[in-house]
Amino acid sequence: MREFIVRARKAPVDAARFLASAGTGAHVEYLAQMIVNALFISKGHREDTCLTLVMEDSADFSRALTMQGNTLGGLSGMDEGSLLGTCAAALNVGSSLKKEASLVCDNGIVVQAISFEHLVREKALTRSVYLLDRKGSDIRDCGELLDPVFLLTDHIPMPRKTYHSLARQGIKKLSLGPTMLHASQCISIIHNELDRLAPDIS
Ligand SMILES: C[S@@+](CC[C@H](N)C(=O)[O-])C[C@H]1O[C@@H](n2cnc3c(N)ncnc32)[C@H](O)[C@@H]1O
Repeated sequence: MREFIVRARKAPVDAARFLASAGTGAHVEYLAQMIVNALFISKGHREDTCLTLVMEDSADFSRALTMQGNTLGGLSGMDEGSLLGTCAAALNVGSSLKKEASLVCDNGIVVQAISFEHLVREKALTRSVYLLDRKGSDIRDCGELLDPVFLLTDHIPMPRKTYHSLARQGIKKLSLGPTMLHASQCISIIHNELDRLAPDIS
């Protein structure tokens, strides 16, 4: 399973504010591009991929929306507006979740009231977790990455204290080359690098 966890620090948890923030400093529209690049391919979707978007602008807890290729139901559309509407609907369903509680929406999206740090700590116990960073080891020097989890931010850098905490957990930095890319572009490149190593993965 390939997994991407994206930290969206200014993305509102409140569904109405989330939708209203498209095109503003929160740039939630970037999240729609990440969904397409993570989960969809021509005439299908990637069954082996999981994308979690962690929205952090919250009055109580962050909300993590998890979309898994092999359980994702029909979405109302793949254009930006429809995808943001799908995220807003999931946020609405999960609006009164207690800390660390979760639920599954009708379309298979899982909503969890959990922080980015907590989510990553859980993953790091059993999986190989990589932080995307231009100054990390080149992905082409790392061989086949087994059952990997990739951590990204949207347009806002990871807080410095998070870097230290991730390093203490043994999480390695991984580079895709010298150019600073959008997170959605990173996702496409990672898929392509891994597809080439294991071309039979759908
Ligand atoms: C638009 S970038 C974040 C930009 C942010 N202003 C910063 O300075 O970190 C979004 C995500 O893509 C990752 N990223 C961008 N280009 C990369 C590259 N060449 N190699 C690895 N990760 C990259 C960043 O580390 C970040 O997680």
